[in-house]
Amino acid sequence: LLTCLGLALIVYLGYHNLFSQAEPPYDDDQEGLSGQIVFKFSHVVAENTPKGQAAAKFAELVAQKSKGQIQIVVFPNGSLYSDIEEINALKDGQVQIIAPSTSKLGDLSPKWGVLDLPFAFENYEAMQSGIHGDIGQALLDSLQEDELIGLAHWSNGFKQITTNKGPIKEPADIAGQKLRIMPSEIIREQFHLLGAATVEESFNSTYNLIETGQVDGEENTISNIYSRKFYNVQKHLTISNHGYLGYAVMMDQKAWNQQTESTQQILLEAMEETTDWNDQNASKINEEQLELIKQKSDIQIYELTAAEKQQWAEKMAPLYEQFRETIGAALLEDLDKLQE
Ligand code: LMR
Repeated sequence: LLTCLGLALIVYLGYHNLFSQAEPPYDDDQEGLSGQIVFKFSHVVAENTPKGQAAAKFAELVAQKSKGQIQIVVFPNGSLYSDIEEINALKDGQVQIIAPSTSKLGDLSPKWGVLDLPFAFENYEAMQSGIHGDIGQALLDSLQEDELIGLAHWSNGFKQITTNKGPIKEPADIAGQKLRIMPSEIIREQFHLLGAATVEESFNSTYNLIETGQVDGEENTISNIYSRKFYNVQKHLTISNHGYLGYAVMMDQKAWNQQTESTQQILLEAMEETTDWNDQNASKINEEQLELIKQKSDIQIYELTAAEKQQWAEKMAPLYEQFRETIGAALLEDLDKLQE
């Protein structure tokens, strides 16, 4: 009987601890008996992805720097909120940190579209100069209009195309196909320009949409294709590197303002270190996971030649003019400067 009572007590304390820690940090209960501050960080991808690993790294650094007084509890895989719900959950104080893909921020400001322009960045270096330079800063600043604090850009990498109707080599090959895309006007127009139809659904529903034949394919980074096993339900993968995919890490202004200066300082320092670390780690993961896809599946992989890439870029070039006003000339000029 004593053992049973002991076990029950341990279970109760464990349960109580878990849930008392999960209080929003700006709640009156923010500091419990232990004085620990807890932030919930919600995201929709797997743990073995650039965003999943960066979130874990950030949590580790914050714990280290605060000597265990600040805890970041990470909820991966959309286990708390889907990508469609997470911004509202942040604003309502249900979670304190999110890192949505920048393609999903068009409702906040159409300027985010600059990162969705096809072939916006020629290579990884140009991409990093863009997201960590004037373009990235202007975008993070724009979040203030929605009472959000933009903390950092975490890159994932470049998007590739997977489909069951392939191979995809020329722009014409994608015409007539139906693709799952992120909710972005530019991405939608990009595929419509190529004669493809689009379906805007959550990341977590993508596997099912492909498996049940509701879409022929999708575009994503290698890490998302790998970790969600899209390679098991897709016949063709084209390495096109045609667009950027990355994240804006953000908090709600209200939650931020209620932190002490020293907590804010710890969060900012840990964020900066994580962002630098992610820049290297993200490309490493995407490279490694491409090899794993080759080992684990017989998906047909085709890499666009430089000439074919040029063809795609020319075909999609009209989007730059079409969205000039929406994005604003200033950001497009900054983008131009990166190519010089
Ligand atoms: C997607 O919806 O395809 C991606 O934005 C998922 C993610 O967060 O990387």
